[in-house]
Amino acid sequence: MRIKELIAQMTLEEKAGLCSGQDFWHTKAVERLGIPAVMVSDGPHGLRKQDQRADHLGVNDSIKAVCFPAGCATAASFDRALVEKLGAALGEECQHEGVSVVLGPAVNIKRSPLCGRNFEYFSEDPFLAGEMACAHIHGVQSKNVGTSIKHFACNSQEHRRMSASSQADERTLREIYFPAFEAAVKREQPWTVMCSYNRVNGVYASENKWLLTDVLRKEWGFEGFVVSDWGAAADRVQGIRAGLDLEMPASGGINDKKIVAAVRNGELDEKLVDLACERILSIVCRFVENARPDTPWDMEAHHALAADIAADCMVLLKNDGLLPLSKADKIAFIGEFAASPRFQGGGSSHINCFKVTSALDAARDAGLNVTYAQGYSVKDDAATDEMIAQAVEAAKDAKAAVVFAGLPDAYESEGYDREHMRMPACQNRVIEAVAAANPNTVVVLHNGSPVEMPWIGRVRAVLEAYLGGQAVGLAAARVLFGDVNPSGHLAETFPLRLQDNPSYLYYGGEGNTAEYREGVFVGYRYYDKKEMEVLFPFGHGLSYTTFEYSNLRLKAEKTALDDSDAVDVTVTVKNTGSRFGKTAVQVYVGARGGDVIRPVRELKAFEKVALEPGESRDVTFTLPKRSFAYWNTGIHGWFLPAGQYVIQVGDSSRHLPLEGEITLSDTKELPRHYDMNSIFMDLMADPKARAILKPMMEAATSSYIQETSAEESQAAKEALNAEMSEAMMRYMPLRALVSFGADEETEKMLENIIHQIND
Ligand code: BGC
Repeated sequence: MRIKELIAQMTLEEKAGLCSGQDFWHTKAVERLGIPAVMVSDGPHGLRKQDQRADHLGVNDSIKAVCFPAGCATAASFDRALVEKLGAALGEECQHEGVSVVLGPAVNIKRSPLCGRNFEYFSEDPFLAGEMACAHIHGVQSKNVGTSIKHFACNSQEHRRMSASSQADERTLREIYFPAFEAAVKREQPWTVMCSYNRVNGVYASENKWLLTDVLRKEWGFEGFVVSDWGAAADRVQGIRAGLDLEMPASGGINDKKIVAAVRNGELDEKLVDLACERILSIVCRFVENARPDTPWDMEAHHALAADIAADCMVLLKNDGLLPLSKADKIAFIGEFAASPRFQGGGSSHINCFKVTSALDAARDAGLNVTYAQGYSVKDDAATDEMIAQAVEAAKDAKAAVVFAGLPDAYESEGYDREHMRMPACQNRVIEAVAAANPNTVVVLHNGSPVEMPWIGRVRAVLEAYLGGQAVGLAAARVLFGDVNPSGHLAETFPLRLQDNPSYLYYGGEGNTAEYREGVFVGYRYYDKKEMEVLFPFGHGLSYTTFEYSNLRLKAEKTALDDSDAVDVTVTVKNTGSRFGKTAVQVYVGARGGDVIRPVRELKAFEKVALEPGESRDVTFTLPKRSFAYWNTGIHGWFLPAGQYVIQVGDSSRHLPLEGEITLSDTKELPRHYDMNSIFMDLMADPKARAILKPMMEAATSSYIQETSAEESQAAKEALNAEMSEAMMRYMPLRALVSFGADEETEKMLENIIHQIND
């Protein structure tokens, strides 16, 4: 009410002005009406609050802050509560600093390992990405600070990110690229949504009415404002029509003037400008009314939290019993990343950390017997013979060697894509040399996206630390020496080689056209369908203890599911080892048979479960109808085809010890329409059509047998049973009965039948 009154008092110029930023990070104030400016900052895994020397590439400094693990790491936790804690900490920091919206989470799907920004994104799986987004948003917004889920939509490459068009079909958008946004909007109402730079099927996201209004608001019920990615607004007037409320940063008033002119000359309805203002002001007021500048920000406490989170994100990819290391042994830490870890990516998410803890610092602080050799130089991207000799020496002189390796900053960043999946050759050389010198070699990886591991068979353990934030070293030391039992699981597949990735042939596109031709077969959906070997599958992650999954129970009140119905899945999980540990219980669903082309299995539920040694627990998951449905382009909606569904439960997409089946259907039917070109197979699958056609077909079959099989034996006659004749006629259209010599009578009869069926 108050907001509407304010808008009524604003001039057209003031209203148009409110639709773009005042500067790089602030909305505009309208002082005469007491409308304040509010600040927004990046995002997503730390606060990048800048002063006037602002930029969107993370070049100029921002205030000292805490860098938490990036999205690539946090998604691997499979732990909603953990991600929520991270969000709540960020929310507190924003309150302390007077920041109204922190720009994130970033939920774009990891279509290819090459995307330079994968480190910020959660997963190749839309369900996991959506769950992580909800947890992050819930945490931040619990502190009365807004989020900006980004980048809507299909911003899965950095190559030509401001001009390329992501060309994806309707079903692919709905099943793969939209669900993370959809879940977040429907469940958590992020205060803002950031539209992406790219075009979606030819139309810039920033001026895409279908995307920003029809889908986002009308279908999903989004209530906040849409902000452009920094510099993403192309045709600003069309943007207003499409539902882009706030343009950031500012266009120096140029676009504001265009909005004013368009209203004056009748091209733009002023009501749409009012609406954008209303949405922006609602959020401005919401923050101002709930601002708590006295919120404390204990950086040391958040550093400790960053370490706890990082430890729970690490994925133990391989371990043949070498880990955890014994604190009594002399251990060689090798590789520059041991002393100065790579823990964050480049670009707009880059945090000016108030401190960084390396694994070497952490081990030495804990009084452990750890030696160090640099191994390689990140700056020179090289390992001299001397460095390698020192690394070998250190390895020989220790019980075990830990090589800290991964991708240097220049290898992956916002703004450009990788060209290959390899680690620096110098680092691979160091790993090979160390592994040859000491059979007890461990590799710790710092990277934001999968890498090839040519040495995998020659090292005893691999710990994926991802870009684990400023306390990653502390977390790595805890995991290596067993203070924390690793419990991360991969949120993406590690393919054996880049060429195996489903987007390989098309990724990057031609000119400004990037076709998402692999459709819904992204990540494990593709590798599983093709039954391909991978380096490490989606969902994989080892532990220092062991878990047993048993006693799968499926329960459904009804088998014909409505939107409000669900199937309950219960399993018993037991810690059968001798240490406390956590496992990510994963539930996958697949349709058995049917004529829709679908993935073999899709993640539809998961839970991180913590168990003491010997403890067991029942875990129940609720799978709504949507877990079984696919996007039907005929009805432009979700549909659950009648049939059998397989439910598999385990701790990775390739380790699913429990399996059950359930027969389900939709409560609604797909609309049908038949004509003379309809084929028998489709008609016979339809109960109504079948009832009408069956007697006719039986009559036809028996006369066929009488006419053609006089010489044949009785056995042969019987073999030509109804099933066979049905199979033979399967692909015949009704009109064929007319073309194969029937008379006008037949045609009339068929038309009559079609009429009856369609009725
Ligand atoms: C990025 C956004 C970021 C914005 C502001 C853009 O370049 O794509 O993710 O929030 O800059 O820094």
